[in-house]
Amino acid sequence: MTSPSANITSVLKETRSFPPSAEFVANAHISGMEAYRELWQRSKDDPTGFWAEQAETLTWFEKWHTVLEWNEPHAKWFVGGKLNACYNCVDRHVLAGRGNQAALLFEGEPGDTRVLTYNDLLREVSQFANVLKNQGIQAGDVVTIYMPMIPEAVVAMLACARIGAMHSVVFGGFSAEAVADRNNDAKSKLIITADGGWRRGKVIPLKQNVDLALSKSPTVQTCIVYNRCNTSVEMVAGRDFWWHELAAAASTDCPAEPFDSEHPLFVLYTSGSTGKPKGILHTTAGYLLGASRTHHWVFDLKPTDTYWCTADIGWITGHSYVVYGPLANGATQVIYEGAPNQPREDRFWEIIAKYRVSIFYTAPTAIRAFIKWGDQWPKAHDLSSLRVLGTVGEPINPEAWIWYHTLIGGGRCPIVDTWWQTETGAIMIAPTPGAIATKPGSATMPVPGIHAEIVDRQGNPVGANEGGLLVIKHPWPSMLRTIFGDDARYREQYWSQIPGAYFTADGARRDDDGYIWIMGRVDDVLNVSGHRLSTMEVESALVQHPKVAEAAVVGRPDDLKGEAIACFVTLVSGEQPTEELKKELREHVVKEIGALARPDDIRFAELLPKTRSGKIMRRLLRDIAAGRESKGDTTTLEDFSVMAKLRESDE
Ligand code: WT7
Repeated sequence: MTSPSANITSVLKETRSFPPSAEFVANAHISGMEAYRELWQRSKDDPTGFWAEQAETLTWFEKWHTVLEWNEPHAKWFVGGKLNACYNCVDRHVLAGRGNQAALLFEGEPGDTRVLTYNDLLREVSQFANVLKNQGIQAGDVVTIYMPMIPEAVVAMLACARIGAMHSVVFGGFSAEAVADRNNDAKSKLIITADGGWRRGKVIPLKQNVDLALSKSPTVQTCIVYNRCNTSVEMVAGRDFWWHELAAAASTDCPAEPFDSEHPLFVLYTSGSTGKPKGILHTTAGYLLGASRTHHWVFDLKPTDTYWCTADIGWITGHSYVVYGPLANGATQVIYEGAPNQPREDRFWEIIAKYRVSIFYTAPTAIRAFIKWGDQWPKAHDLSSLRVLGTVGEPINPEAWIWYHTLIGGGRCPIVDTWWQTETGAIMIAPTPGAIATKPGSATMPVPGIHAEIVDRQGNPVGANEGGLLVIKHPWPSMLRTIFGDDARYREQYWSQIPGAYFTADGARRDDDGYIWIMGRVDDVLNVSGHRLSTMEVESALVQHPKVAEAAVVGRPDDLKGEAIACFVTLVSGEQPTEELKKELREHVVKEIGALARPDDIRFAELLPKTRSGKIMRRLLRDIAAGRESKGDTTTLEDFSVMAKLRESDE
């Protein structure tokens, strides 16, 4: 790790700007820059007054008496208020006469489809909430959900919320070991799973993993299994039950109970780059408010929209922008079970054309894969229904942004580059698309209610165009309340690094127009001859080259320069790795950035090591570049063979 004391030099030269069309501005929820500035300023001058107004968009059983109680680092929002998150996502739409509207348009990987209206959702959720109650689950209990991306995953989450049980969703791609760790840390009482889920034409054996996990999870007494794939599984008598059998015996009447604003809604584990996963705790009112308002502002959701966020419910993006945000806003949305390249590389474009999707939200890692697969796939489909595109998870390289804008958005759709974290619960920095002109690679400006600053180690603001640490200055409703079972770690990690601010661990810079450019995790910064460079910016220069599909850049210890620049590069299909090309790429980076950033090592790789959520694991690449063994946690690695191949591909 490089010293976090110095500031970061930005070398990214990106000056293109894309204002929204006049028509888009005219119809937007936040229409025009002045409207945005006014709203944001109001939220800064009077945060509690602002959030109190926003909270009127939720349905309350009892109103709060105090908007915010803040004893740093502990916040309580809407104290005294009572509500039910599930009621806000389901019942209130039915009561408003929208019960026959489609809530979920489900498409399974094998091509099976189902539509669930809000009426359907109410019936299914109420019935499954009774199933949980019948199994002895009470408010405050923890329930693990380990499921494929099917409607029942959403139903299971909402059923927990309905009865005040906390869900702990574990991504279906994680191993038995990871499930057991999370069960034990959260002291989960019950697990909901499926026999399996479809992924690239194969069945992921979820129940088999659960069987292994439960041999090491003493607190879990019950397992409920949804039959998704009709595969044969072992059912342990007295412990394992079929979803459909329990549901058949349960009433569909289960009134939503009022819970305190600060009643825990869920815990979600994030893998820190080292050490044991952190259970991020979110509570009811503030989280729901943050997710729903940002969904409204940033995606500019209208009743006529068909929305699709491709995230799995195992990630915070699935929690906030598949379940709680869109459903609280009464959206009609697509959910898709499987891989983007099953049966072919155009599955996503086929789905967009078929359902006339108008808002599409995905991750840079997916966009990079689409680019690699080739333009012919999106070009073969009618994508004219799209009007807003979103991205989340990593900085997006300007070239990937332009590709997304041109090939998918037809040049007409604003791209909302949304910066946030599991911990923040909701989008923090992103364009409100009818107000803020976008710039490729910039998340632009904070959403209303969020006070972001870029500071040095002492907490002093840095100047324009100077890279520094991104912090948040005032508590916000959807922020994490603690790390489950480890409040000391919560305080230490987020509230002890910079005086009086929430520490994001990301580097960023603000340009002359006030736009924020995220430079990646501070841990990933390179220190080359005393210059602190963002790995993301060197990567952006590399992927600008037409033959490069993806690039990851890390520092390698170097006696002379402090750190040498080591690049791992994957090529677009059809291109050959040659010494010539290495030379060409070095010169290309020098031309784009300057001699300062000349790559020392370039290695061609077929694949890069990534977490299952698609983030490049630079920590592992640093080990390879330095020629040392990797220690630390590798359980979140998506494909273990990648590491062995990379070690063989020595410079
Ligand atoms: C970290 C949080 C938030 C949902 C998915 C990831 C990086 C996230 C962006 C973006 C640049 C981004 C940051 C952040 N990140 N979105 N639009 N531009 N970087 O959640 O796993 O909690 O990761 O992802 O480094 O701190 P997460």
